[in-house]
Amino acid sequence: MVEWLASSDGRAVLEFVTVVDDDAHLRASRGDASAVDALKLANAIAKHFPDLDRGLAAAALTQVQLRRKAAGRLGPHASELLYTRDGLEQASRLVVAQLRAGRYRDAGVESVADLGCGIGLDSIAFSLAGIAVTAIERDPTVAAIARANAAAVGVSDRLTVVEADVTDPDTLTLTLSRVDAIFLDPARRDIASQAGGRSQRTLDPQAWSPPWSWAAALAERSPRMAAKVAPGIPHELTPDGGCTTWTSVDGDLVEAEVAWPALNTAGVRRRAVVIRRDVAHELSSAISLEAEPRASIGTIGNWIMEPDDAVIRAGLIATLAERIDARFIDPQVAYLTSDDEPPPSPFMAAFRVDEALPYSLDSLRRALTARGVGQVVVKKRAITIDPDDVRKRLKLPKAEGKATVVITRIGTDPWAYICAPRARAIPDE
Ligand SMILES: C[S@@+](CC[C@H](N)C(=O)[O-])C[C@H]1O[C@@H](n2cnc3c(N)ncnc32)[C@H](O)[C@@H]1O
Repeated sequence: MVEWLASSDGRAVLEFVTVVDDDAHLRASRGDASAVDALKLANAIAKHFPDLDRGLAAAALTQVQLRRKAAGRLGPHASELLYTRDGLEQASRLVVAQLRAGRYRDAGVESVADLGCGIGLDSIAFSLAGIAVTAIERDPTVAAIARANAAAVGVSDRLTVVEADVTDPDTLTLTLSRVDAIFLDPARRDIASQAGGRSQRTLDPQAWSPPWSWAAALAERSPRMAAKVAPGIPHELTPDGGCTTWTSVDGDLVEAEVAWPALNTAGVRRRAVVIRRDVAHELSSAISLEAEPRASIGTIGNWIMEPDDAVIRAGLIATLAERIDARFIDPQVAYLTSDDEPPPSPFMAAFRVDEALPYSLDSLRRALTARGVGQVVVKKRAITIDPDDVRKRLKLPKAEGKATVVITRIGTDPWAYICAPRARAIPDE
């Protein structure tokens, strides 16, 4: 199947389906509610390619749907690649994988083994950075897709895909003898908990494939190593002398990566990479989270700042506070405040505070109505409310005014801050 999809016949069918599907989506965007219809698309394929096997037609249809999902997420090559559903969900974003590949290159790496390469996004990023890649994948269909994807991007000369199980001792020994660094992106799917034929995500590092203990033992044999992990990874899993990097893309926290000491050439312990419109900004600290000095805490000022999730997960809020001369509003709450307008920063959104009040639905409704606010965006932290539910239950009378409402707690007391409707623009926006 994969070979056919990558062949000239398969590519011709994919091209046709893409054109018909793009046209249907264009019509849908102009108001034609029935334009996007899988059955119509299947009929169009059958009419244009009357001798085409139905299974191949269905495979082409699935690929075009997955390419549409991948567009905008996986980078400029998304429309040339082949996917499986799980493979696409687990694939690294190219912009993130390329930053990682840059860190390997900066550490002097010339060849890398990508253990569990999936459909190959990390392998492709390494090879685009000029690093020779041996990519290992145990699923035959996924391995074939990784191979086809390397060819589609034009990097097959320095990217070899091997179908094998990386935990097989002979495979591993042979692979390690060929490369000078390792990258590992374990499958974070729990096959045991398959629901509706699809596996579920698991947060337990020992349930990943390969499991975390296997990865840690591998780092003893091959110290130039990093592993992609779930963003919820605890700080304690960072090895001594290593570094964990949390990355967000346009406000979404997408991954974390643990690097062992030999790859941590920058000598940092925790790093937040915030990518906005393809531009990466880095904030880091050389000390562990437990060693972090206590940040200053104080009453709410004229501005409230909401740090990016990568900054929060990396435990770098105090580092950010120091940089922008701000203070915490509560030691347990991830909001900062300052009296003066903070300098623009990609690491946070800043809202001007117009009014602060002890929170109750009634008091908030009264204050908003008095201000002529009819539309609100509700944000919250460290308090068990559902922002959408609050917004609906406010039942504000119709009015022109807009506001952002931040609801949180100071100590045990709930507070609401009525703020300007939009965050002050961050640089580049
Ligand atoms: C998270 S995905 C990799 C995604 C990849 N980094 C990308 O950006 O496209 C993990 C892959 O590891 C493979 N895998 C899991 N355990 C493996 C093993 N023991 N040997 C080889 N591959 C394995 C899975 O089949 C899956 O395709």
